Amino acid sequence: MKKGIIIINAYSKLEHALNQSIRLKEEFLRLGVEIDIRRNDFFAAYVDDDGRLKSRIDYDFCVYLDKDKYILLMLEKCGMTLFNSYAAIEACDDKMLTHILLSGHVPMPKTMPGLLCYDDRERVSDSTVDAVISELGLPLIVKTCFGSLGKGVYKAETREQLAKICDLLKCTPHLFQRCYGEPGKDIRVIVIGGKVVAAMERCSRVDFRSNLELGGVGKATEPSDEIARACVKAASVLGLDYCGIDVLFSGNEFAVCEVNSNAFFGGIEQVTGINVALQYALHIRKKVYGE
Ligand SMILES: Nc1ncnc2c1ncn2[C@@H]1O[C@H](COP(=O)(O)OP(=O)(O)O)[C@@H](O)[C@H]1O
Ligand SMILES: [Mg+2]
Repeated sequence: MKKGIIIINAYSKLEHALNQSIRLKEEFLRLGVEIDIRRNDFFAAYVDDDGRLKSRIDYDFCVYLDKDKYILLMLEKCGMTLFNSYAAIEACDDKMLTHILLSGHVPMPKTMPGLLCYDDRERVSDSTVDAVISELGLPLIVKTCFGSLGKGVYKAETREQLAKICDLLKCTPHLFQRCYGEPGKDIRVIVIGGKVVAAMERCSRVDFRSNLELGGVGKATEPSDEIARACVKAASVLGLDYCGIDVLFSGNEFAVCEVNSNAFFGGIEQVTGINVALQYALHIRKKVYGE
């Protein structure tokens, strides 16, 4: 019997997250693959008293819809076939790391790492704020390195705003980025198994962030060959079986803004009518069972 497990976050109450696993399970069942869905709270793997890694699960593969990375790495070391792999999820989880790993491969907005401070009482120097403005101009974007759904993404229009954001984020990993393209607009591209399977243009009238969760509205689109090639390249450089890539654009120019290893596909399925869950299940079945 073909059998896989889908692991979801231990705490998440997001309806999207649960729906994602249910949709995937549905499609797997149609393809003759049984699936258990479990929250990540049963300590699927651990370092035992004898110093060896132990896994509590026995499946042909695991679709890891969480970013909680320690269990992910232990499962991988115990021989579990993972979608996505540890390295791929880690590379996407940290936005600055993503930009570093993709450098030289795809166009991206100019990006600089924030300087990490270990003492909340310290203040960010005027020269740091000035240096960021002189490199990137205003307005500019500041992001926490770990964050999703638009949380932790800020726009600084003035020097004062930037100084405040710097102070707020100084003890949290963050990055500074050139503000690129049309405000509130981007393209979300889903890549599975090295192919673009769906894309939508997202546009927000209420925020500079185009995330659907913050009021962005999606419409189906066909990405240009250049954008499609860059997205496939980004997925391959980061070793992703599945991802959702955010691409900013300005006329015919574009820049990869973010790569999501755990992109929700509910919104894009609705907007495009494409069965993304089926495409992902087909890819996994092919890779695991060769059929
Ligand atoms: N450099 C940028 N220039 C202009 N808009 C941006 C930039 N970076 C992010 N955005 C906007 O903010 C949104 C959220 O940023 P993103 O990096 O994708 O973080 P999240 O993980 O929260 O989705 C993007 O979809 C885009 O609309
Ligand atoms: Mg995003």
